[in-house]
Amino acid sequence: MSPVHVVALGGSLLRPEEADARAMWMGQLRQLMVHLEGNGRRIALVVGGGLPAREGIELAKTSISAPHRLDEIGIAGTRLNATVLQQVLLDIGCDVAPSVPHTIDDARSLLDDHHIVVMGGTVPGHTTDTVAVKLAAAVHARHCIIATNVSHVYDKDPRANDDAKALTDITLAELGAIVGVGQPLEPGASAVVDPVAVAVAMEAGLDLAVLDGRDIRRLDDALDGKLFDGTVIKA
Ligand code: UTP
Repeated sequence: MSPVHVVALGGSLLRPEEADARAMWMGQLRQLMVHLEGNGRRIALVVGGGLPAREGIELAKTSISAPHRLDEIGIAGTRLNATVLQQVLLDIGCDVAPSVPHTIDDARSLLDDHHIVVMGGTVPGHTTDTVAVKLAAAVHARHCIIATNVSHVYDKDPRANDDAKALTDITLAELGAIVGVGQPLEPGASAVVDPVAVAVAMEAGLDLAVLDGRDIRRLDDALDGKLFDGTVIKA
């Protein structure tokens, strides 16, 4: 059977600010998935919660503070976004799993029968980056691609530091020194890669690729095993 590719798709990618960009990105992703399926590839898309997750968590935060409850709301947001992509791909006739799995095991078995599986989060305590890394390890993927809304991993936060440098080739240990290792983020908080995912990748000896998913060509290149514009992170 062909190898499985696993991609964490940041939730913000589904909702570029301009409506035109939104339709264009979705159209390009659809085209890419049709092309990959046509080539017999199997692919898991693990979709982040973006706006609905953040909005739900903010709304609930006024009444509850238990992190696992806020995480459950975040998970619901990720599953909403996953369902949007699942239905869009089903609508154009792709061979997509008819359910959005709740666990890594279910995702793995759906990948035995379908070219494409779309899922969101699973359990509290991490983000969809971690779900993607766990799934990539479980299916022995060559690497886990993290498609987000920044071009690279930077040596420091580029929003706060004008002199932040984009990194093209680093190790998991170096990534861990930048974002942390194993310490869960607050519900709804964001980092270029979830520190829990870094710990899981280290344990599994799994390479990562971080790239700007707003540019579908970069995702295509990384899926094709070509040199891509982004950061390669070696185990
Ligand atoms: P995301 O996976 O969307 O967080 O999960 P993110 O990667 O920071 O954001 P994107 O990729 O830009 O969308 C949103 C929230 O849902 C909960 C967490 O609270 C997380 O912050 N979550 C998600 C879980 O608790 N478990 C999961 O498996 C996934």
